[in-house]
Amino acid sequence: MVKKYSFPKGFYWGASTSSHQVEGHNTNDWTEWEQSEKRLKHLTETGQIEKYGKHTFVSGKAANHHHLFRDDFQLAKKLGHNSTRFSLEWSRIESEEGRFSKKALDKYRDTITHLEETGIEPFVTLWHWTIPLWLRDKGGWSNPKVIAYFERYVEEVMKVMGDKVRFWITLNEPEIFTTQSYLTGVWPPQQKNPINYVRVFRHLIKAHVRVYPIIKQYNPEAQVGIAKNNIYFEAHTKHPINRLVKRAADWWWNEHFLNQINKWQDFVGLNYYFHNRTNFFMVRNENKRLSDLGWELHPEGIFHVLLDLQKYNKPVYITENGLADAEDKDRSWYIREILKNVHRAIEAGVDVRGYLHWSLLDNFEWHEGFKARFGLVEVDYETMERKPRKSALYYKEIALNNILEETVEEEK
Ligand code: BGC
Repeated sequence: MVKKYSFPKGFYWGASTSSHQVEGHNTNDWTEWEQSEKRLKHLTETGQIEKYGKHTFVSGKAANHHHLFRDDFQLAKKLGHNSTRFSLEWSRIESEEGRFSKKALDKYRDTITHLEETGIEPFVTLWHWTIPLWLRDKGGWSNPKVIAYFERYVEEVMKVMGDKVRFWITLNEPEIFTTQSYLTGVWPPQQKNPINYVRVFRHLIKAHVRVYPIIKQYNPEAQVGIAKNNIYFEAHTKHPINRLVKRAADWWWNEHFLNQINKWQDFVGLNYYFHNRTNFFMVRNENKRLSDLGWELHPEGIFHVLLDLQKYNKPVYITENGLADAEDKDRSWYIREILKNVHRAIEAGVDVRGYLHWSLLDNFEWHEGFKARFGLVEVDYETMERKPRKSALYYKEIALNNILEETVEEEK
């Protein structure tokens, strides 16, 4: 028997990328950090250079999407996508403080025009973690002036392409960024500084709130939100401490940022990757299936996370969801199970309007480098050849039909 899960009319199907991870040829705080002595020392000492080679951890040409974006979006179209999410690289647009590159801005405008002509709706991210070097030198997001710098940058972007884009995502995953850069100290600027962690968090909230009216001024029809990484926290037992830990984690990780910006968001963008079953202060996941990065694949979690987002009373777009799976052995299964749970959430009343898989292409996975393969499309980093994986073809059928079909055994 074939079971059919139909999605709402006009549902957006597509995939996401970010500038630093696919474009290549960038100069920003990450490119310098990737080549820094401290970073190389760490990679050498942990045996990663020996195992994977230095090139694995240097973004370099990445997937050369900067030059190949037209081909990549044509391919996305062939793969059934009617939408895409990509980010603008602040360091290209304002490589020198206060000087905005017409060339860089025009190129992004051309990208949007190309998408329009191809019949792909763009979701454009204004900031996906990397910053220009001049801003890094001024303390990056921990400097209170960053809010004014961000406003100025966004205004320049709006002057050139504000009228052309309907969906703007101001910030990508503020909580992952603040945690990795200012708490665990894994990412640049590698601080373990709880004060800066809170400070940066507050600056990100303010930055979003301040640019919201700027975007609207250039396009009152624009829909503005952020891409929010939410985790399905589950209490391992009914013990009051476990419940309390779950509640606190929900509040701090999932809700706090959204609560603060809710008056200034038109939709909720959800990035879903993680499930944490908390037992007192430990995470006790079943880990039945893991991605290549050792992350638990827990598709049911997205149902719970989506239900929780209902309280914001806004349309929801899934702006990222995916897995590192070089052999493509779990990707189709994962997409299917995720989408069944998205469908279940829609039936339960959540206004989900789109699903953007992470990622369109294999790309530079931050400190994990090129070894993690998240793409629907495989990239050969030597030849830059693109090869859609089987899962991309599986996803194509769903996207083109707006229906997920599953063959299930008849019950006797
Ligand atoms: C980020 C992406 C990243 C993906 C997989 C998200 O947290 O927005 O940049 O590549 O997860 O780790």
